[in-house]
Amino acid sequence: MRKHPTLSHPRAFSRIVVANWKMHPSMPREAERLFLDIRREAVRRKRVETVIAAPFVYLGALRRLITAPVRLAAQDVFWEKEGTYTGEISPAMLVNSGVSHVIIGHSERRALGETDDMVSRKVAAAVKEGLVAIVCIGESERDASGRYLNVIETELKAACASVPKKALPLLMIAYEPLWAISRGDGKGQTATSDDMHEMVIFIRKMLTGLYTRTIAERVRVLYGGSVNEENASVLLKEGRIDGFLVGGVSLKPRAFASILTAANEVAQ
Ligand code: PGA
Repeated sequence: MRKHPTLSHPRAFSRIVVANWKMHPSMPREAERLFLDIRREAVRRKRVETVIAAPFVYLGALRRLITAPVRLAAQDVFWEKEGTYTGEISPAMLVNSGVSHVIIGHSERRALGETDDMVSRKVAAAVKEGLVAIVCIGESERDASGRYLNVIETELKAACASVPKKALPLLMIAYEPLWAISRGDGKGQTATSDDMHEMVIFIRKMLTGLYTRTIAERVRVLYGGSVNEENASVLLKEGRIDGFLVGGVSLKPRAFASILTAANEVAQ
């Protein structure tokens, strides 16, 4: 496992907020402006690690704007080191471009054909290179008989399949039920705090079975799906989660700053 050149303590922060810009914005200038606007807010909330997941093409330019506690993430990665894979980006390319985190298995990628096996290979390759893998798992619907828990179990097992115990500090699980992800405005239906708390317990129980209890307690579990300035505080306090993966609202620095404030308040 390679040690990331800048990530000396992958678990230094108790709360993490990830901005998932998805396929926005269209201009490099706008990406830099947005990064700086978020950075200005983030540096005032030092107890929170703010991770900005930008489109690949902007990563090289954004790396020079990184200042603690802001980190740079990619939204995907490929599992091979190099070779004849047109269009793909390797873990080493990300590390060498100043990236420390990577989102893997987002439901929008799974909808385009990404399988559990592909997610598993990507996670293994990413942590091997020292990247923090933010792995998204989540059911498309909730049924009364609890079949949605099987979906979570399958996706979680695949995510961990090739992650050795010593690499677990580099793993974050983002619980993102598909029915809660907004269409870009952060205004969909969120999971309730109870749903979330139940899921955190379930995920930790599964991780305990796969590794050990002590290690399972230390894996960070995030929530994503219509997080906004109004619901962030309650979700953090009652949902017992370690942070958020924010889509739509991460493009609005003011509203995003309120989410950072909520996380900073609960962080020790
Ligand atoms: P949303 O997106 O915050 O707009 O619901 C979350 C995500 O897809 O990561």
